[in-house]
Amino acid sequence: MADEPLLEVTDLSVEFPTDDGVVHAVDRVSYSLAEGETLGIVGESGSGKSVTSLAILGLLPKRAKVTGSVRFLGRELIGMKDNEMRLLRGRNIAMVFQDALTSLNPVIRVGDQIAEAITAHRVISKHDLSARVIKLLELVGIPNPAERANQYPHEYSGGMRQRALIAMMIANEPDVLIADEPTTALDVTIQAQVLEVLERIKQRTSSAIVLITHDLGVIAGVADRVLVMYAGRQVELGTADDIFYRPRHPYTEGLLASLPRLDRRSGSERLHRIKGQPPSLLALPPGCAFNPRCPHAKHKSCDGPRPELVAIGRRAHLSACLRVDEIYAEAQESS
Ligand SMILES: Nc1ncnc2c1ncn2[C@@H]1O[C@H](COP(=O)(O)OP(=O)(O)O)[C@@H](O)[C@H]1O
Ligand SMILES: [Mg+2]
Repeated sequence: MADEPLLEVTDLSVEFPTDDGVVHAVDRVSYSLAEGETLGIVGESGSGKSVTSLAILGLLPKRAKVTGSVRFLGRELIGMKDNEMRLLRGRNIAMVFQDALTSLNPVIRVGDQIAEAITAHRVISKHDLSARVIKLLELVGIPNPAERANQYPHEYSGGMRQRALIAMMIANEPDVLIADEPTTALDVTIQAQVLEVLERIKQRTSSAIVLITHDLGVIAGVADRVLVMYAGRQVELGTADDIFYRPRHPYTEGLLASLPRLDRRSGSERLHRIKGQPPSLLALPPGCAFNPRCPHAKHKSCDGPRPELVAIGRRAHLSACLRVDEIYAEAQESS
């Protein structure tokens, strides 16, 4: 089927039983990803971004209760056997984690680690293998790749380690690359370079990318569509333009207001942080989880039942704010 999505996540939920009760880490998340598309997933720390992705790849501890459906080219991944999942990981869907230092093996040369990632999935001659390793290092912008391949991770800077990790993850040209806060530990200049690498990979390989971050600023100019998560739930989904220029959820507005902007003089204006803290995932408020922090006047309907994502107008822009029509009435008229 030509228009079948690459990845289709439907009502994905994850619960962790703990001594204090059940942690509802992810609550009915749904999204689809098309070939060559970059989806940004954004939300404060603890909103369920990483757990969502780990659930997709079958990497959660056994005690996690995962429900819902994840289809990769029509194949169901939830409940898939471990050995089948291992084959799929790396070859079809690969994930880059935040901390490159702990993801790379300190006692194995970087080139050999990339080579291992390749030979885990196919048979290749020694000569072709080393050429491929060098080519991958070059693709992610490592200077002197032939020499660098023989070095150990500690001889690389933080930004270079993150690139080496990306090289390892794209070694088998996965259809989907999930990058979980790949730039969070890096300084701003290096962040921009790593994002450029992701962009280049997308153009070269047509793989789809899921870019996860707590910082909306990171995905500006990179993501085609953006999913906003709050307390394990999705609160808004739209094109990057929808999210950045026509946000239709008070939480998204709050994230945008807390972004530093080039057109504000530095230091002259304090950034607006969203007041308060996200709720405990052990005891979510009834109704809208953002209600206790929402700056808009409260309304009885916000207390429950829990709002679902609904389409705004005729476009593929979804919001889980029950009062979207009221709150954004003026903006709607002018757009
Ligand atoms: N193994 C686990 N056991 C219990 N709770 C967990 C576990 N892993 C994650 N959580 C909880 O799930 C929630 C979502 O975590 P996570 O997906 O890592 O957030 P994010 O990536 O958005 O910062 C957090 O409240 C976290 O404490
Ligand atoms: Mg995370």
